[in-house]
Order: sequence, then structure tokens, then C-alpha cells
Amino acid sequence: MNKEINIGIIGLGTVGSSVVKVLKKNSKLITARTGLEIKIKKASDIRNRKDLVGSAFTYRAVDVINDPDISIVVECMGGVNPAKSYILAAISKGKNIVTSNKEVIAKHGREILSAAKKKGVEVLFEAAVCGGIPILHAIRECLAGNSISEISGIVNGTTNYILTKMTKDNMGFAQALKQAQKLGFAEADPKMDIDGSDAAYKAAILGLVLSGCLVDPSKIYKEGIEGIEPADIDYAKSIGYVIKLLAIVKLESNRIELRVHPTLIEKDHPLAQVNDNYNAVFVKSDAFGRGMFYGKGAGGLPTASAVISDIIETGQQIAYCDEDRYYPPMTDLTVKDIGDIRSRYYIRLEVPDKPGVLAGISGAFAGKKVSIENVVQRESKGGVAQIVIILHENREKNIRSALKAISRLSVVKKIRSVIRVGVN
Ligand code: HSE
Repeated sequence: MNKEINIGIIGLGTVGSSVVKVLKKNSKLITARTGLEIKIKKASDIRNRKDLVGSAFTYRAVDVINDPDISIVVECMGGVNPAKSYILAAISKGKNIVTSNKEVIAKHGREILSAAKKKGVEVLFEAAVCGGIPILHAIRECLAGNSISEISGIVNGTTNYILTKMTKDNMGFAQALKQAQKLGFAEADPKMDIDGSDAAYKAAILGLVLSGCLVDPSKIYKEGIEGIEPADIDYAKSIGYVIKLLAIVKLESNRIELRVHPTLIEKDHPLAQVNDNYNAVFVKSDAFGRGMFYGKGAGGLPTASAVISDIIETGQQIAYCDEDRYYPPMTDLTVKDIGDIRSRYYIRLEVPDKPGVLAGISGAFAGKKVSIENVVQRESKGGVAQIVIILHENREKNIRSALKAISRLSVVKKIRSVIRVGVN
């Protein structure tokens, strides 16, 4: 026999309204597949959305939180305030939570998850990372039998769109950003996309699901794409690479490595084929091996797809199981210092075109035991040349100290770009 589950939705913007639409459109299919009849008992927004949910509409989120018949509160507002207080209030009333809100989970997940644990309720947030791609379920369940050594993801659609347009259509940064905003997948404040903050929230959540350790996003090393010049994209292309903004998560025995930065990726790597506003997460693990999860990381319908999967999972838990879900305990890991990470590097230098330049530069690298893999010298205009150097894998600390020495050389005008190379 089918079981009825009453849900309440807070926030009927792009995501919340899509959740309503998909639940309505696919209600028969969902019931047939899951045995659940999901009813929207109340839904709140600051704008009148009676057109969408009829008499279930309320302007007041507290009406959703206080409704005794509602067992799952779906938070689709985004941002920290007031979403966090609504989530905590709903938990205190014994409601399960489904949220699409990456910022609130990345910044306040510890408090929220520990309140939920005390109350014996669920908090699920599949939609918070890569929208429609079921990557959190994949890590938590489908790959639970694997030791996962590395996750590298293109987790921000706006920056991927901008880099794609700069790479394929020779578009300028500003024009590509404007188009991304027009298409509706940039954040209200695009700075969060461009400077890597949005990707850092998602990296924090991937780290949490992978390890049980939630690292404060402000402690995650991040570089955005604002420093990527068309020249770097062209040089990278000429030596067989594309530039992507990656969120990288790696686990060591008692340390976690989390970082967000532009990366040169070999053009044949699956991540290099991920274009426009698409997202993808590349996982390296012992049993499953190397594989990529790919799809739409933003937008109403893809995000609603993930929200609804969490509603169904929680609904089935309520309807069919008496046992509480097992949550691994929250752990504390040391965050690996960026100086300790190992990578290959792409360096672009502006130099005077005269004798002794290359000798000076290679001497400075050799002095810090940094080995050069490849050197290309490009056009010399007005006596100024561009030298692109790919360095063999080394510790970031060593690279930084070599670059410091190089910046002091009289034969180097400017270090134009430093970009990490490669995913494993
Ligand atoms: N601004 C985000 C992006 C939306 O561009 O991917 C989804 O989190």
C-alpha cells in the first residue's frame, strides 16, 4: 500500500518552483516507483506564489516549520540568513531537512548535522553540489566499498562556461560572464563564482561526504579565474592542454587536501571535454577505478531532480524503516598546507629577448632543485619575449621559493602566470 508523506517547501524561486513542477508532473511515476505519495502541504515565499501551489501557499516560513503534519522541510532559499535559522527551527520541531543550499551546509554543516543527530532526523543535501549530478549519493553509497584517493571536479558552471567561451570562441572574459548571467546560471553576485568561493563551498561538502570532516570554506586554498588571460589559454592549447577551474579533494591518513584553482588538463582527459555550463566530477578509487560523473550542475530542473531524490530517500526512511540511518561520526583532520601539495606547473614569464635569459631562469630553478619539463619561447615584440615553462612535479613550497628567486632576476620582467597542471 502506498504511504503518504507531507512535505513543506521554504523558497519558491528557481529551485523551489521546479521542485513543485516536477513533483506534480511526475507524481504517478514517483508513486509507482517508490510507493510514496508526496503531498506539498505548505510552501512559503516572500512573493505570492498561489499560482504555483494554491491553498498550500503562505508568506510565512514559520507556517511550514510549525505544521505538525509536515515531516520533511525542503529549504530552497539559498544563503545563510535566514535559511540557517529556519533549518535549525525545523530540526528542533523534529522535521527532516532536504536542502539545496551549499553555503549553509559548507559554513554551518557541523551545527546543523549535530542538531539533527540529537533530534534523530535526516539532513540531505545532494542538490548542493553539482545540481543534478548524484555525486554525493555516489560517494556515500554507490562507491562506499571503495577507497577513494582523489576527487577532481568542475563544480562551477559559470566559470566553466566562461573558460569554454574564451577557449573555443575567443571571447573576452567580460563578454562571456555577461552571457553566463543572461543564461541564469551565475550567482546573484558573480564574484562568488569567479573567485572560486562557490567551488570552495562544494569542495568542503565533497570533503565532508568523503571523510566526515567538514573544513571551514575560509580555510580552503582557492584561486579564481580572474587572472587567466587569453594568452594563457592559447599557450596551453598550443602544448596540448585546456584550462579548467577544479575543486580537488584528496585524503591522507590524518590529513585532508582541499583546493580550488585553475588547472591545465591534458586535452584528452575526460574533464577536458566538459564544456559550457556542464559540471563533472572525476573520481579515482581502488575498485571502481577512474571514472567521471557528468551533467548539469545548475538550473531549476536538474537541481530539482536532486532535491526530489533526497525527498524520496527521506520519505522511504520515514515510511518503511524504524531504524535510524547510520551516520559516520564527524571527524577532525588537519588541512594540508598548500605549500605541501605536489603538482606540475605552467609558468609564463615576460622577459627581455637577449642573451643569458634562459640560462638565468634555468639556473634559478636548478638552484631550488626544481626540474624543467618543457620550455617554449614565443613571439618577441619590441624586444620582449614570452617564455612558457612546464615544470616537473614538485612541492609547491619549492616552486614558490624558485619563483621568488626568479622574480628578482634582472633577466625577468614579470611572472605573468602560474597555473597548476594535471589531474591524475
Ligand atoms: N553559480 C553556480 C554555478 C550555480 O555556476 O555552478 C550552481 O551552484
